Amino acid sequence: MRVLIIGSGGREHALAWAVAASPLLTELFIAPGNPGTAAFAQNVPLRGTDIAGLVAFAVERKIDLVIPGPEAPLVAGIADALAAAGIACCGPSAAAAQLEGSKEFTKEIADAAGIPTAAWASFTQAEAAHEYIEATGAPIVIKADGLAAGKGVVVAATLDEAHEALTAIMEDKVHGAAGAKVVIEQCLEGEEISVFALCDGQDALYLGVAADHKRVGDGDTGPNTGGMGAISPPPWAPPAIIEAAMSRIIRPALAEMAKRGMPFRGFLFAGLMLEPDGPKLIEFNVRFGDPECETLLPLLESDLLPALAAAANGALKGAELRWKTSASATVVLCAKGYPGAYATGGEILGLEQAAALPGVQLFHAGTMAAEGGILANGGRVLAVNALGADLEQAVARAYAAVDTIDWDDGFCRRDIGRRAIFAAALAKG
Ligand code: AMP
Ligand code: GLY
Repeated sequence: MRVLIIGSGGREHALAWAVAASPLLTELFIAPGNPGTAAFAQNVPLRGTDIAGLVAFAVERKIDLVIPGPEAPLVAGIADALAAAGIACCGPSAAAAQLEGSKEFTKEIADAAGIPTAAWASFTQAEAAHEYIEATGAPIVIKADGLAAGKGVVVAATLDEAHEALTAIMEDKVHGAAGAKVVIEQCLEGEEISVFALCDGQDALYLGVAADHKRVGDGDTGPNTGGMGAISPPPWAPPAIIEAAMSRIIRPALAEMAKRGMPFRGFLFAGLMLEPDGPKLIEFNVRFGDPECETLLPLLESDLLPALAAAANGALKGAELRWKTSASATVVLCAKGYPGAYATGGEILGLEQAAALPGVQLFHAGTMAAEGGILANGGRVLAVNALGADLEQAVARAYAAVDTIDWDDGFCRRDIGRRAIFAAALAKG
């Protein structure tokens, strides 16, 4: 098979690494890729938003399967454009990508399918939205309806914060057109988990569960980020929780999407809150998570490529994947200043030594190659993954690798997996 992956981050490096191990693979392209993927795949200088350029490349190179990493090309219709050119794509149509592109759409699907989720209302008029939160009270969650680079959600502890968020989104238009509509939700409480499934329009194949660490600082402090680290499996997500997530949330969503004539294909990422009466849907994303992808794929024992092809071709029924019983932890190395302004260009040393440590995989996220060396070139720069017999070992191995890397401008959270290790110890007694 000739495969094209779209994207340039740690998630795409991990997808490429897994696909590269497949005996079915004949040629692997990645657009635009990064220095990590250049070591074993052909980087192609095309951006994810250049839909016409990507389709033309796929046609010219006779690509058998396209695997988009991020949501932007999907929301922009890459799967539809590839379908029109007769090329299989492991990702949803633009219509089905509304599951990430519009929070209101997701809430409507959830209600129609009987999926447990927070009570909600949507507004296009600021005045009505302000009145609604006065009536409901705080805490309350305010969301820009559209894509806002992961910054469109405010969990407001007080009514003042909630009014402020509404003013910023609806009147000051800080997220532009993405905030023309807001969704206001009841605040859920509990542990958060991310459950992943591979979907073919009808069937869903479980891909694993992870816990992300979204805040920039130790102890879950500071602003939200794209994800500072992840672990799998979180001890608060036993098999019964996964069963419930698949049967009450993911499969009903697939059935509802199919019923509406927009069958969902590709990676489905369900962000869930574990409340006492079971998992509740916070949001769907129409892609693998980052750094969850770098955390889950090293656990995979089976060949990933035939499963992705089956998902793209509506043929997942009966497919199975085997997984290692290890625990997995990923620590993301970031440029100082992230998620705010940060410097680029600093040299990163010690990558080979780090990658050679037991159980470790390094995935490039925001790097560039220069004169034989690797320089920082982004906010999230490296995803350092390690497997271990248990979470404690996985985390210790990931930090041993982090400490082998020499990069003056970098930082990471020092507490990835700490709460999970504590919870696992408590559960053991
Ligand atoms: P999202 O961008 O939808 O992933 O939301 C970002 C984060 O906001 C989530 O990961 C949750 O931590 C939080 N969040 C979103 N919706 C709710 C909710 N209804 N109740 C509590 N927290 C929420
Ligand atoms: N790590 C969260 C995400 O990929 O959205």
